[in-house]
Amino acid sequence: MIRTGFLVIVMVLLSRVGRSQATDVEQAVRFTEAQATLQLEEVRRLNTPERVSPRTLDAAGRLVLVPAGDWTSGFFPGILWQLYGFTKKSKWLDAAREATAKLENEQYNGRTHDMGFKIYCSYGQGYRLTGDTAYRAVVIRSAQTLATRFNPVIGCIRSWDHNRDTWEFPVIIDNMLNLELLFAATRLTGDSTFYRIAVSHANTTLKNHFRPDGGTYHVIDYDPKTGEVKNRNTHQGYSDESTWARGQAWALYGYTMCYRETKDQRYLSKALDIAAWLMNHPHFPADGVPYWDFDAPGIPHEPRDASAAAVIASALYELHGFAPGNLELRSLADRIVHSLVTGYTAPAGTHGGFTLLHSTGSKPAGSEVDVPLIYADYYLLEALARGKTTP
Ligand code: GLY
Repeated sequence: MIRTGFLVIVMVLLSRVGRSQATDVEQAVRFTEAQATLQLEEVRRLNTPERVSPRTLDAAGRLVLVPAGDWTSGFFPGILWQLYGFTKKSKWLDAAREATAKLENEQYNGRTHDMGFKIYCSYGQGYRLTGDTAYRAVVIRSAQTLATRFNPVIGCIRSWDHNRDTWEFPVIIDNMLNLELLFAATRLTGDSTFYRIAVSHANTTLKNHFRPDGGTYHVIDYDPKTGEVKNRNTHQGYSDESTWARGQAWALYGYTMCYRETKDQRYLSKALDIAAWLMNHPHFPADGVPYWDFDAPGIPHEPRDASAAAVIASALYELHGFAPGNLELRSLADRIVHSLVTGYTAPAGTHGGFTLLHSTGSKPAGSEVDVPLIYADYYLLEALARGKTTP
């Protein structure tokens, strides 16, 4: 009798949890649709041939549009694709096609490693949802262009070309995300060159980008002649030895994705270690939305980074699919999403149509601190989709 009563209570509680998550997802997608409608109108009003994609708001609250070459240019088309994926409305399909087309020339841009962010989030998503062979061709060409930045002595893709007086061959942890484009190109062409570059980059990063405590370095500078590490630095974090929150999020996402693509147990184990590192970190806030750097000196009076939280949530949902017994992964992802959609969203109809507030681009540069950032919205939508479809 008591056992039956207990079971009924558990089932009622579970159904409430289930219902509240589903409600979170449905409401958040509806809210994002309304915000994106506003943002789309603004983009159509403000865009020029040079400035095509929204990134953030300026100090006066105006929408900032960036050129196609900016690392964030793919996220707005990616949001439109995801909204199409959720709703199947032709309005979002048309808007996604329109926004994606503006990035076409980026497939030839070999001056940046951000090809994955730009092209996989836009053309890659477009191909996934439509099977359009013109999108497929852009994905492949972009991977060929990205591959030109690979140095076989080091075993990595070069990240930045700027600050040549500071770094000879900088590789940043963010670069892990660009590997997804390379894995896709091998799947699409059967040419394993892209796959081998991605695996080499992931292995070299595994060796050099992590501290013994599991935190990540942001920038590793390599000697291109010997492949040796010259320096370990930060650019967007608090200090060379601190753990920049979004860097840790990119690492979690990157190794989860690399496990999906390769089934190499070392990548799964690294992703699980990073998740455990987050869960056990004394500075990880109860709501799951990190401060901009885990070692920022003024915690708890430091800006948060909602974009890092969204990336972490999306990665955790995928990781939970690979480690279904680890319920903490899913429960943390749920907690983060719940926090974001209940405590970090813009008031409806404001903030240029962004969904999330309170992200941090580069605190050391005093740039984009506690603002909406387009990639936070992109990864939130991805997390919502993954949370809905994974067990
Ligand atoms: N990839 C640049 C950033 O995360 O800010």
